[in-house]
Amino acid sequence: MPKFIIQGGSRLTGEIAVKGAKNAALKIIPAALLSGQPLTIKNLPAIEDIDRALDIIKDLGGQVALHNDECQINCSTLNRHELTPALANKLRASIMFVGPLLARQGEVKFPHPGGCVIGAGTRPIDLFLEGFTALGARVSFKNGVYHLQAKKLKGGEYFFTTVSVTGTESLMMTAVLAEGRTILKNCALEPEIVALADYLNTQGARISGAGTPTIIIDGVKTIDAGTCKIIPDRIEAGTFAILAAATNSPITITNCQPAHLESLLAIFKKIGVKFSVGPDWLKIISADKLQAYSLKTHEYPGFPTDLQSPYVVLMTQAHGASLIHETIYDRRLLFTDMLTQMGANIIMCDPHRVVINGPTPLVGHKLTSPDLRAGISMVIAGLIAAGTTEIDNIYQIDRGYAAIDERLRQLGARLERYD
Ligand code: EPZ
Repeated sequence: MPKFIIQGGSRLTGEIAVKGAKNAALKIIPAALLSGQPLTIKNLPAIEDIDRALDIIKDLGGQVALHNDECQINCSTLNRHELTPALANKLRASIMFVGPLLARQGEVKFPHPGGCVIGAGTRPIDLFLEGFTALGARVSFKNGVYHLQAKKLKGGEYFFTTVSVTGTESLMMTAVLAEGRTILKNCALEPEIVALADYLNTQGARISGAGTPTIIIDGVKTIDAGTCKIIPDRIEAGTFAILAAATNSPITITNCQPAHLESLLAIFKKIGVKFSVGPDWLKIISADKLQAYSLKTHEYPGFPTDLQSPYVVLMTQAHGASLIHETIYDRRLLFTDMLTQMGANIIMCDPHRVVINGPTPLVGHKLTSPDLRAGISMVIAGLIAAGTTEIDNIYQIDRGYAAIDERLRQLGARLERYD
């Protein structure tokens, strides 16, 4: 089983460039199904989830040509409307292919998406099914397979009873080819949603309101595909900023969009992280005597749940007590028991809340990465800890952080990958 072995305690320094956003790319790739034209994607991150998404395109009969961070996708040869369970079960975001397939083929079959251990049970998809029904689809479920049919999608209204990022993106892009006007309410506001709408509008779609709670889509007959450059990954940028603060290392993060990190930077100011910001870079200067600060994760522009795990590690090094309330997902705090084994002082109040008392020295330990964000948090903990830390199940880390061992070694980290 591949693993990372980390010798902790060294101060890092240097520059690290942020890659394209996983959670933007995982929506642009399925969007290629909406058009019969070839799509060129630039700034694609080289991570496992992207490979899984491109496997699904190929499995549906589409053509894929990948060169480093650029990819050409041609879906004019699409010949299937069923997601193969073996592929869909490896990727929670496989659900993003359902809407475009329904819009393009009038029919789609798919299993309950798998691939991610966080969230209640197997991550519900009720909002997606209700939304597709609002656009005129008929939904049936047999032998573990959902079957959606719609001769022609018709614009409709849908109110999200829970704010959902992929739910918003899925219905927004599907409504592009529906007849008439669709109004989506209580939408998520994430930058990746705005990026998807901006891209689709350059190809002939008519979407307004992305980035606000109400999105209006006026359907069109066809759209082009053209070229899309993936926006920088704000979660990767935030993760590296927290890593720099946690190891008190002067690190400059380049190719990023600090405007997407306002919630983190506002907290950095409160807890004593010294940093400077440019148009596309963030320089962490120092993080001496950090103060503890409690937070609640929240939909954008609040503090992102995807930075909660790295922030928990940072709070083990801060002075005082902090209460971390994970409001979005169940199970996303379970990794804290591994930090406790490293010497952290963390009390789990309930599945959504932990209290951390710091600072405490951490000691290297054998760990298993349960999901990608907990996995990278263990890397941060290993970099802080005295002695050796071993992390296995690093596929979960490779899902979201390209070549992370090479990139951290360039900052001076003593981290080796053993396959
Ligand atoms: C997206 O997940 C991201 N994934 C997640 O990043 C991110 O943590 C999450 O948004 C929240 O910001 C991608 O974009 C591929 P949700 P998503 O639908 O859209 C409930 C990472 O680490 N819900 O916003 O799947 C759900 O259970 C990943 O990169 C329903 O109840 O999350 C959750 O409690 C992890 N019914 C809440 O909504 C549904 O039909 C928010 O989930 C759908 C979701």
